[in-house]
Amino acid sequence: MSVQVHGVVARAKGQPVTLETIVVPDPGPGEARVRPLACGVCHTDLHYRDGAINDDFPFLLGHEAAGVVESVGPDVTEVAPGDYVILNWRAVCGTCRACMRGRPWYCFSSHNATQRMTLLDGTELSPALGIGAFAEMTLVAAGQCTKVDPAAPAEVAGLLGCGVMAGLGAALNTGNVTRGDTVAVIGCGGVGDAAIAGARLAGARVIVAVDIDDRKLELARGFGATHTVNSRQTDPVEAIREATDGFGADVVIEAIGRPETYEQAFYARDLAGTVVLVGVPSPDMRLELPLIEYFGRGGSLKSSWYGDCLPSRDFPMLIDLYLQGRLPLQDFVSETIGIGDVEEAFDKMHRGDVLRSVVVFDR
Ligand code: APR
Ligand code: ZN
Ligand code: ZN
Repeated sequence: MSVQVHGVVARAKGQPVTLETIVVPDPGPGEARVRPLACGVCHTDLHYRDGAINDDFPFLLGHEAAGVVESVGPDVTEVAPGDYVILNWRAVCGTCRACMRGRPWYCFSSHNATQRMTLLDGTELSPALGIGAFAEMTLVAAGQCTKVDPAAPAEVAGLLGCGVMAGLGAALNTGNVTRGDTVAVIGCGGVGDAAIAGARLAGARVIVAVDIDDRKLELARGFGATHTVNSRQTDPVEAIREATDGFGADVVIEAIGRPETYEQAFYARDLAGTVVLVGVPSPDMRLELPLIEYFGRGGSLKSSWYGDCLPSRDFPMLIDLYLQGRLPLQDFVSETIGIGDVEEAFDKMHRGDVLRSVVVFDR
């Protein structure tokens, strides 16, 4: 039987989101129906609402969630009703060219539910990143459910589903930060702070945090920054060199997605260093760099998709580290809010007041 629940829907470009009754079908083959317990508010939700991703309105928003599997389709074996899961948007297919080459974290053909959730009048919804978890129930591909230790509270665990994983993975997976490295992170929102936490976890010896907002720099210290730079007042490239014996950092992570900050990252790395772009640029942005500098400095310039994570490998491991007190995921939760407060949370995010607002569902 399909169920009717409340969900946060973006009906039209730029319009405030509304709470709607949605219809969630019974899970079919390969699908799972999940009851979200908590779901973080991410920039990507706002980008969907603003029509910056595509025009497939109406969208069912929300995609950084943890919850409980309610029911599964006939052939599903990897999860069962009652399982505590984080939802992911990389349900690896196992057969695309990336998967076949043993690089499933790049999977080019990630699974989503086949059936569509709808509004009461039958209008099909497009779930954000194939998830749609600002809802009391949602339908996903079974592979989008990653089981983790239920001892981790949902408002904390859900954050690994997107932004925090992106930042942690930018440092741990894409940047391959290792013991003794020097690291700089430009942009210290939720993603940048997660990159800082990842660098600390990996054993970085110097971690320079760069932002234009002193409140963010203060938070960055809490996640492990050893140096902070307000780039409105101080040249960040110079400051990063100063903090790294004059050389530049082994790994520089750009967590904003802008050409001017990318350029800072490019010049702030040491010879043979790595730049990781995890901030998402907009399509109109252009970058111009002297090619000789790119060649002459060696190393690598990389981008990090979803932190190059493999959910089945990374989520349970990171939750275990959190439970051992080695990864302060709880510090990313600036506030918990209700399902009706998402529009207000977008404003706070826009003003830079929060790392993450997290919707918690009444049970
Ligand atoms: N120089 C330095 N810091 C800047 C600059 C700048 N020119 N412009 C903005 N910032 C800082 C902001 O002060 C803020 O602390 O960058 C941070 C961005 O953080 P958030 O807006 O909270 O964004 P976040 O959720 O961390 O995501 C960062 O990653 O996944 C992508 O779409 C996401 O592109 C976005 C990026
Ligand atoms: Zn694949
Ligand atoms: Zn997101």
